[in-house]
Amino acid sequence: MKASENKATLSFSNGGQNVELPIYKGTLGPDVIDIRKLYAQTGMFTYDPGFMSTASCESAITYIDGDKGELLYRGYPIEQLATNCDFLETCHLLLYGELPDEAKKTNFTKLVTNHTMVNEQMQFFLRGFRRDAHPMAIMTGLVGALSAFYHDSTDINNPKHREIAAIRLIAKMPTLVAMAYKYTVGQPYMYPKNELSYAGNFLHMMFATPCEEYKVSPVLERALDRIFILHADHEQNASTSTVRLCGSSGTNPFAAIAAGVACLWGPAHGGANEAALNMLYDIQKAGGVEKIGEFIKQVKDKNSNVKLMGFGHRVYKNYDPRAKLMQETCKEVLGELGLENDPLFKLAMALEKIALEDEYFVSRKLYPNVDFYSGIVQRAIGIPVPLFTAIFALARTVGWIAQLNEMIGDPDYKIGRPRQLFEGSAKRDVKPIAQR
Ligand code: SDX
Repeated sequence: MKASENKATLSFSNGGQNVELPIYKGTLGPDVIDIRKLYAQTGMFTYDPGFMSTASCESAITYIDGDKGELLYRGYPIEQLATNCDFLETCHLLLYGELPDEAKKTNFTKLVTNHTMVNEQMQFFLRGFRRDAHPMAIMTGLVGALSAFYHDSTDINNPKHREIAAIRLIAKMPTLVAMAYKYTVGQPYMYPKNELSYAGNFLHMMFATPCEEYKVSPVLERALDRIFILHADHEQNASTSTVRLCGSSGTNPFAAIAAGVACLWGPAHGGANEAALNMLYDIQKAGGVEKIGEFIKQVKDKNSNVKLMGFGHRVYKNYDPRAKLMQETCKEVLGELGLENDPLFKLAMALEKIALEDEYFVSRKLYPNVDFYSGIVQRAIGIPVPLFTAIFALARTVGWIAQLNEMIGDPDYKIGRPRQLFEGSAKRDVKPIAQR
């Protein structure tokens, strides 16, 4: 980051001493006012619950232009990556800052492929869950449990250890998600097959059984690989900020990623894809397209607490570019599967059209986000609804670990420890119970 000639001067109406604050410029996006010395100079904190106006770190990984609806991974537009690259090339880009050449791609793919198996002991963690446990509850447990197998071999401050932890996590997430799924359907786990692609191997572990050969569909393989690319990273969103804060204590990277999994589960965040599909099911059950008006009316009624799931975004005040690509993938997959007239997809497009013409959504700049269409395409691929967010976690693991490693790799990083505006009781004495 570089200092701007511009400075911020803070003045106080009660005559307090003015404070001058430096302003820094990044490569793209808003400048920042450096308030690190504010408390020492004024005895005051800034106040920004939800971090609406706060940059928590400097980063070189992902940039979002919310007004234009642009998303760049290490400077490359998401549209170009989703069309010209595969997920492992994107992982290499996010982790190391550059797209791999042929040789690097071969090596990286081999490295990831050779870490896809999990320790045989991992299967015993699943037995503690009920068969109908939510896959994200299982994943939060399994990813945290990985710490137990690598805790003593992961010195988070050793770059080589950080790199192998990244490879292990990227490689093992598909295996763990597939195990979580197989456990809930009572089928045996399928081991990874090294001759398959990353997405192909996941499809195989999900849908193959020991009883017969499973043929990976190239259409589904490509669609899933693209879904992984679209979900890989997204600046300092809630789960990434969770991973950074958790990792800032120097904890095991597996534990920090488990914290990210837990945060992503929320319906306001990664859980929105499951919630969006259930919302479409509800509208369909209530009567389909002709019931959209009634549903939108409910959404606009603040007391209903009903939101249009898959719509709106803290940063995008334009169409989420991932939603556009997801809609395209939807059309491709449904077309290939002969499901062009899928009623849910038609309902989603009708709902989107109505919402985008409605003043309530237009005035609040609410557009479809990545979660609006992702459920429809995952359902078409055969992925059960409760597993959608686990797929999001699988794909976002590379972003979380790249962001965590970027933070830990900065020699000046500190443990994150926000302050507060205290509004509780002033100091008081405990009375004997008879006087309370
Ligand atoms: C993801 O941060 C990321 O980058 C996240 C993510 C990633 O890749 O990591 O992009 C993934 O989490 C996408 C978002 C998925 N969530 C949903 O689709 C859930 C539905 N969306 C909302 O919950 C909401 O839009 C948020 C949480 C996504 C953003 O909320 P903000 O930025 O806090 O905005 P807000 O709640 O202050 O909304 C502003 C106004 C409010 O109305 P008013 O108070 O002005 O009257 O818009 C309304 C909100 O009530 N609003 C919605 C709405 N989203 C916002 N009203 C109806 N339906 C919605 N979906």
